[in-house]
Amino acid sequence: MAKHNVGVPLPVFHRLDTDPVVPLYRQIHERIRGTILAGRLAPGTRLPSSRTLAADLGVSRTTVEVAFSQLEAEGFLIRKVGAGTYVASAIPAPERPPRKTRAAAVPPPAKSAREALSARGRLAVAAASRAEIWVRLTNRPFPEVMEQPNRRLFARGLPSLSSFPLRTWRRLIARQARLWQGESLGHGNAAGYRPLREALVTHLATARGVSCDWRQIIILNSSHQALDLAARLLLDPADPAWLEEPSYLGAWAALHSAGAKIVSVPVDDEGLNVDAGLAMAPAARLAYVTPSHQFPLGVTMSLGRRLALLGWAARASAWVIEDDYDSEFRYTGRPLAALQGLEPIGRVIYIGTFSKVLVPTLRMAYVVAPEGLADAFAAARALVDGFSPSFMQAVMTDFITAGHLSAHIRRMRALYRERRDVLRDAVARRLAGRVTMSNADTGLYATGWLQPDVDDLEISRRAALKGLDLPALSCYYHASRPVPGLMFNYANVSPADIRRGIDILATIV
Ligand SMILES: Cc1ncc(COP(=O)(O)O)c(C=O)c1O
Repeated sequence: MAKHNVGVPLPVFHRLDTDPVVPLYRQIHERIRGTILAGRLAPGTRLPSSRTLAADLGVSRTTVEVAFSQLEAEGFLIRKVGAGTYVASAIPAPERPPRKTRAAAVPPPAKSAREALSARGRLAVAAASRAEIWVRLTNRPFPEVMEQPNRRLFARGLPSLSSFPLRTWRRLIARQARLWQGESLGHGNAAGYRPLREALVTHLATARGVSCDWRQIIILNSSHQALDLAARLLLDPADPAWLEEPSYLGAWAALHSAGAKIVSVPVDDEGLNVDAGLAMAPAARLAYVTPSHQFPLGVTMSLGRRLALLGWAARASAWVIEDDYDSEFRYTGRPLAALQGLEPIGRVIYIGTFSKVLVPTLRMAYVVAPEGLADAFAAARALVDGFSPSFMQAVMTDFITAGHLSAHIRRMRALYRERRDVLRDAVARRLAGRVTMSNADTGLYATGWLQPDVDDLEISRRAALKGLDLPALSCYYHASRPVPGLMFNYANVSPADIRRGIDILATIV
């Protein structure tokens, strides 16, 4: 072994951090390793003895010994009794930039991180940023409000946060915490906690007319995750997929990032126009719909359209993704049954979430998959992040089986109906002729249409400057000319604040 200077100058050895967070031996280990990897200590270089180095650094010899032993075990150093400590000769040479030639005197610019992404990665980033841009567009320039999205008046996507039954949850959490031991600390099932899946079968049958076996239910973190998994499982790049026009941006982003060819199918007052879809792309692989409460227009899909959609899915062997996000709350008559319960053939993938019926922070949602697809959903879910934490699933099971969920839905239905009425009255009083409200008999928000020549993005932006979150309908159109309007998420706003918000809006529209 070639011998270089004994006790090479090691600038990197000075200034050990006396902060005890990183132990001294670890600091010495990391610095020597980093120096070797950077090519600044050539193979064969002899290091100072542990005694010398310890004296130089003002640490104990044992500390240096521990660092040396670790580096020896990792193959960076070779130690020979009586002969000293050397940098191993088998260290791979560090990557160096190519030598400059005259022709290439200026090195090519380094690839940006974005360019280094795969095609799939680029689609994912583009999808997320477009969804984000639309949302931000209407709020610019109001970044500090964006930092606190839940604080704005009419903040989007929120159920009544103050009505969340916290006392009951605290009690149920405490009960589960006492049982939390042994096997329940290990791995969970990718498809979810079985008692919750069983509890959901009964709840969904009575509350939503969904008919399924517990094996078809896969518990997930969110509808977002459900949409992403559905797109991964069912779509190849360039496959045509029907999307409601206008539509939920989360669905657009999931389809876009899967590389689908998005076919924007118009929605009218009967919901998705199936004939238009058939004319545009009869062989689409799937259709994304919100039949009980179209997002964002608020219409309910007629029975005729439901049957036409299911008929097409059966003939074309296509899938229907039913996003049933907030329709437990219906204010006139009983909730309309889900599309899933109407079909005997197993082409509908039903997505439900606890984000609206309870609160979004739970991050709990589920898919009811057709029998033949349930295992595939569980497998895809396992691939992404294993499984959902069983603890909160157990708490949710108790919440449902003790009847708290249905009681909460009943209470919220009355509360939201009142808030919806207050909103409609306030708009009729202060904005007659300028804003026309939807009848809003389902869900947590109402849609208000503006006059055809009004720029809803500009109204939305000006409202944001005054602390109101009123997303412009234009944000949700992908292919056709938008109909201007605003979304009023009233569920989390007190009657007094609803009136105050509408007074503010009346100074803008
Ligand atoms: C149409 C639609 N689907 C689903 C969701 C809920 O998504 P998640 O379960 O990911 O919170 C929302 C929330 O705003 C929504 O508007």
